Amino acid sequence: MQVSPSLLSADFANLTPDLEMINASEADLLHLDVMDGVFVPNISFGFPVMKAVAKVCRKPLDVHLMIVEPQNWISQVRDLNAEYMVFHQEACTHIHRTVQAIHAAGMKAGVSLCPATPVGTLEDIIGDLDQVLLMSVNPGFGGQPFIPHVVEKVRKLRRMIDESGSKALINVDGGVNASTGALLAEAGADILVAGSYVFGAPNPNEAIHSLKVL
Ligand code: DX5
Ligand code: ZN
Repeated sequence: MQVSPSLLSADFANLTPDLEMINASEADLLHLDVMDGVFVPNISFGFPVMKAVAKVCRKPLDVHLMIVEPQNWISQVRDLNAEYMVFHQEACTHIHRTVQAIHAAGMKAGVSLCPATPVGTLEDIIGDLDQVLLMSVNPGFGGQPFIPHVVEKVRKLRRMIDESGSKALINVDGGVNASTGALLAEAGADILVAGSYVFGAPNPNEAIHSLKVL
């Protein structure tokens, strides 16, 4: 299993020790949650903070944009040297054009779905995607309880990806811990995002390891 700890639950007054922990850990990616107060009812951090984080972080960045008009921010995300630029289906009218532009900027492209958005909506774009990010909470906040219905969505998406020959990885975000993570692994997830489970743990490395082995 690939693990993508979410910086949203780190200590914003003192990020360096948390980033050094991530650098030295088994984590595969660092997940950065950008919120605009419009698409979601919260505001997190923006490009000045992410630039500073990118300088210290040695893991590839998994940038999750919970913002309207994500297509306007492609060059700024590219300037972070991000591995993935992930945006919401619900926040973007021209998904195909945006995915092409992300690829042209040299990044991998991901589309995220809120809990109520069916995976079938991606049927005609799945072959172009590098990642699908299924939200297992309503986006906007860390520390919310896992929505169990998402396990079935992972199973459906796994089938769609395998049948289409798409290379997209299935990432799941929200309420992930060792027990919900085990259900998601069994259903076919490739990457797990975890915020409060990692940064709230007495030993974050053990929490990361407990997801790695799934
Ligand atoms: C929520 C964010 C998540 C958040 C997950 O909108 O997209 O990445 O950090 O937090 P936990 O793992 O605590 O549910
Ligand atoms: Zn996220």
